[in-house]
Amino acid sequence: MRILAIESSCDETAAAVVENGTEVLSNIINTQIEIHKKYGGVVPEIASRKHIENISDVVDKALSDANLTFDDIDALAVTYGPGLVGALLVGVSEAKALSYALNKPLIPVHHIKGHICANYIENPDFKPPFICLVASGGHSHIVHVKDYNEYEVLARTCDDAAGEAFDKVARVLGLGYPGGPKVQKLAEEGNPEAIRFPRVKMGDKGFDFSFSGVKTAVINYIHNAEQKGEEINKADVAASFQEAVVDVLSSHLTDCAKSCGVTQIALAGGVASNKPLRERVEEKAKKNGFTFNCPSPILCTDNAAMIGCAAYYAYKDGEIADAELNAVANLSLN
Ligand code: KG4
Ligand code: ZN
Repeated sequence: MRILAIESSCDETAAAVVENGTEVLSNIINTQIEIHKKYGGVVPEIASRKHIENISDVVDKALSDANLTFDDIDALAVTYGPGLVGALLVGVSEAKALSYALNKPLIPVHHIKGHICANYIENPDFKPPFICLVASGGHSHIVHVKDYNEYEVLARTCDDAAGEAFDKVARVLGLGYPGGPKVQKLAEEGNPEAIRFPRVKMGDKGFDFSFSGVKTAVINYIHNAEQKGEEINKADVAASFQEAVVDVLSSHLTDCAKSCGVTQIALAGGVASNKPLRERVEEKAKKNGFTFNCPSPILCTDNAAMIGCAAYYAYKDGEIADAELNAVANLSLN
């Protein structure tokens, strides 16, 4: 089954053709980072307009890269939430129009399920059940993936998402947007033990996250030094902040996995591209006897291949949308 999938929930206009869930025939990502960079973050109205300008070309390119035409496609799939509502609407409208014109089924996909399903694409041996940390610019969830279509959220953030904290700390360090890769790069020159930033446990079981405190601690540290006229070592700040986030994400993830009795853990979402995070989670997985899986960085960032993969399993479970499908900005996972 060949699915043409579309993703436009944030600042990437993406389309992909995916065969039988995991064979990626094309994966086109048109990123708007250069445009939003000068504002220090994604401007929703600009994102929507750029999606409108780009979507048809991106879809055409996904087909031509796969050497296919619309006739060769069996179904359409689209991210319908969560995300920026105006941005989501562009993808949803495009997919609905194509589904109607081609008379082919339309599969609605949850963005976070897409991120999680990216784990199946490169590793055919990796199957549910497992525990997955989904960490991106908008989400920080630990999810128990019981089956391809059975998800239970075990932990979430009470305030900022992990990626959001990276982006905000990058801004105060004057590194620009998107912050994650820039903080990671600068951190390579710093000492992760130089400053002890707070690690917070929230919720009944202490599995939930809070990244607002660590972000504020970094801002206070910088302002304090400025007021005293002291020089700060930016690389040490970046490394110590990253260490606090990696420590919290990796320990909550392994604690959650232990409490569920699963044998596999996985990462997903833009922050899963973070090298120290990948290494730390892999190390903790080994130590505790878990199998570890993580998609390549290109499948961690927003893309449509992951949406095509999630759509395949959703379709097998009978999930089909009609022309009433709408974008849902705060679509929940369960
Ligand atoms: O999944 P994604 O591409 O988009 C959303 O759904 O939000 O994630 C983007 C987020 C941004 O906050 C970005 O700073 C962060 O992922 N990110 C990273 C790294 N690469 C991207 N954070 C830490 N380290 C990285 N290497
Ligand atoms: Zn995402």
